[in-house]
Amino acid sequence: MEAALQRRVQRYGWDKAALYYENSWQQQLKPAHDALFDVANIQTGQKIIDIACGTGLMSFRALEATGSDGLIVGTDISDKMIEIADKTAKENGLGNIRFERMDAEELKVDDEEFDLAICALGLMYLPSPVNALKQMFRVLKKGGHCVAAVWGKRINCGWADIFEIVDKRVSSEVCPMFFNLGNEKVLEENFKLAGFASCQVKRIQSFLEYDTDEKACSAAFEGGPVALAYSKFSESVKKEACEEYLTSIENFKTEDGYSVPGEFLIGLGIK
Ligand SMILES: C[S@@+](CC[C@H](N)C(=O)[O-])C[C@H]1O[C@@H](n2cnc3c(N)ncnc32)[C@H](O)[C@@H]1O
Repeated sequence: MEAALQRRVQRYGWDKAALYYENSWQQQLKPAHDALFDVANIQTGQKIIDIACGTGLMSFRALEATGSDGLIVGTDISDKMIEIADKTAKENGLGNIRFERMDAEELKVDDEEFDLAICALGLMYLPSPVNALKQMFRVLKKGGHCVAAVWGKRINCGWADIFEIVDKRVSSEVCPMFFNLGNEKVLEENFKLAGFASCQVKRIQSFLEYDTDEKACSAAFEGGPVALAYSKFSESVKKEACEEYLTSIENFKTEDGYSVPGEFLIGLGIK
């Protein structure tokens, strides 16, 4: 897919997903967020940039860890995500945090401004993850850390059929290379191509838990990257796509709903 089109699909897709995002994903992504947070090992007073920050879930955690002497800049391509994050900061009277709409591949910040760059579950959506990592490398001070979490191998993510289910009902693919970074050595290679001398990667297994069909479908279709395409479906196509998705995760049905396996990778590079 042409890069500009992919960015538009992401921008307006996540605008649609923004209001559903935390309900759908905050709990489910907690294992990845916790692991990223551990690897980031934030120190007080650090200046931190959060790339593809969404509603700011990691930005606010980072702010708590860096304290009042630190600074957080959260960036995302979606206006709605930035609006929500900004509103949360204002409502809580938080001063040393700001949110700005920016493409991850074109950060409008100075070179060597930050001690730490984080990107939680954002790289898979970009036309060029390497370009985004190059930007993170550029804005880091020497010795600064870059920590990125991505989804793992397709075969280890039980919800993976969602893309195929949506793509066969729309004219363009939503996330053409989504699972590429989860394959052996690809994340490491991307860090190296971006300028990091090395990259340590940790794989973690996790489960997406849903107690009803509705919650499983809402998270998949309304709270994530396919939200824009889904919003354009007629009611009957929506119903048909949901049924197909539920069939695709049928093997993960439990007594209490669904427990769908997922895998995350956490990569660390040092400038
Ligand atoms: C799964 S959400 C992750 C949000 C947040 N980091 C978290 O972990 O809760 C993915 C985010 O990537 C953002 N995104 C997608 N393409 C982007 C791009 N080219 N530049 C910046 N952000 C982008 C989306 O708008 C969305 O907010």
